Amino acid sequence: MDSLLIHGGARLKGTIEISGSKNSALPILAACLMADGRTRLHGVPRLSDIDSMIKLLGELGCHVHRHEPAQPDGGPALNGPLEIEVQDEKACEAAYRIVKTMRASICVMGPLLAKRGRAVASIPGGCAIGDRPIDLHIRGLKKLGAEFRTENGNIVGEVRGRLKGCRMYLGGAQGPTVLGTINVMCAAALAEGQTVLVGAACEPEVTDCAEMLNKMGARIRGHGTPEMVIDGVEKLAACEHRVIPDRIECGTFMIAAAITNGELELKHCNLNHLVAVSELLQDVGVHFKPQNGSVLVTSNRRLNPVEVTTQPYPGFPTDLQAQLMALLCLSDGISVITERIFPDRFLHVGELNRMGARIRKEGATAVVQGVKELQGATVMASDLRASAALVLAGLVARGATRIDRVYHIDRGYEKIEQKLNAVGANIERIKET
Ligand code: EPZ
Repeated sequence: MDSLLIHGGARLKGTIEISGSKNSALPILAACLMADGRTRLHGVPRLSDIDSMIKLLGELGCHVHRHEPAQPDGGPALNGPLEIEVQDEKACEAAYRIVKTMRASICVMGPLLAKRGRAVASIPGGCAIGDRPIDLHIRGLKKLGAEFRTENGNIVGEVRGRLKGCRMYLGGAQGPTVLGTINVMCAAALAEGQTVLVGAACEPEVTDCAEMLNKMGARIRGHGTPEMVIDGVEKLAACEHRVIPDRIECGTFMIAAAITNGELELKHCNLNHLVAVSELLQDVGVHFKPQNGSVLVTSNRRLNPVEVTTQPYPGFPTDLQAQLMALLCLSDGISVITERIFPDRFLHVGELNRMGARIRKEGATAVVQGVKELQGATVMASDLRASAALVLAGLVARGATRIDRVYHIDRGYEKIEQKLNAVGANIERIKET
């Protein structure tokens, strides 16, 4: 397992290109299982989670090919397009080996049931951000007519004939489910008749997948709202699609600019997906200047404390909670952060405190007392976004910070140390020997 060694104190200045969204690309890749022909996807980031999904698609009979990167006008190399073609529809299983490394494998369930009539997936266990049940996915797919049983740690779903559309409520105790909505939406796209999803997730990643399915011939409307209407079709055909920019990567780099009192131009970001984030950061003292498809991010030297609660989209995302906490550690006063989506997603608190932060956790709330500085330390990355928070803290800490178990960050941030070093950071990867 690699580590990152960060020498803190540099003020970041320059331009960073935002990659395509991991959380959009993963279910979009799974949805390709339903299309006849060769689908061509642009903007799929090079990440270990994407590699896991490609491997899973390979086991499910797909041929996946990544084209060589293009380098327009001597600029930075862009990822080549990814092509996916289903060649064999016999396999129906997402094995434990893959599901345990990446929970998003569960989003092959809907496409497999709709297209192949059978889906077997290892039941994902808990993870570092808390319990992550899949009951809502199963409830929605059952309402479409699939039958489920558990067998040796696997969930086995089967459909006799074709799935049948219906009206259903898809929300749970914690609100809507992103991947659950996508799973059921995919299945409904090939079901007989009309499905109405009430309480659907409105995240841009759901919308992106719906738009790709519509290019494939699906008839989905209302995506991006809590009520989606899906008129089932008999077939879907391959299409060409570009995944949306990664709003969480973009938010993370906004915070990188703010925490280092730097000046970053973020290219290919969609500020419309970050309204709650940019408004909250403005309250903290961060400034945004949109310019030609990019945004210039600067900040006040003095950061204000804020109160924030994570919420489903369009609210402040749970996937930026840890990174925001790193920033608020250096604000001038007391901030309060409440986690509504994953109430146990606080493993970064102890690590930030080891760096000199003053954070007290009470249930699903963290009270952050701002301090004058953070100090470098050896810390442990517990999950993807917690790792990003530790990188941000390391960028501004006095001395050196070593982040162990950094493989988490490679799951979701494309070339993070190259991108940050190019704008002045001092991050070195220590390879495990
Ligand atoms: C997606 O996970 C993202 N993952 C997560 O990003 C993100 O944190 C999460 O949405 C919330 O925005 C991907 O897109 C690959 P949910 P997902 O179902 O869809 C409860 C990252 O760091 N729930 O929307 O699995 C659940 O426990 C990752 O990139 C049920 O109760 O999350 C949670 O409280 C981590 N039953 C709430 O709903 C279910 O069947 C929302 O979870 C499903 C979910």
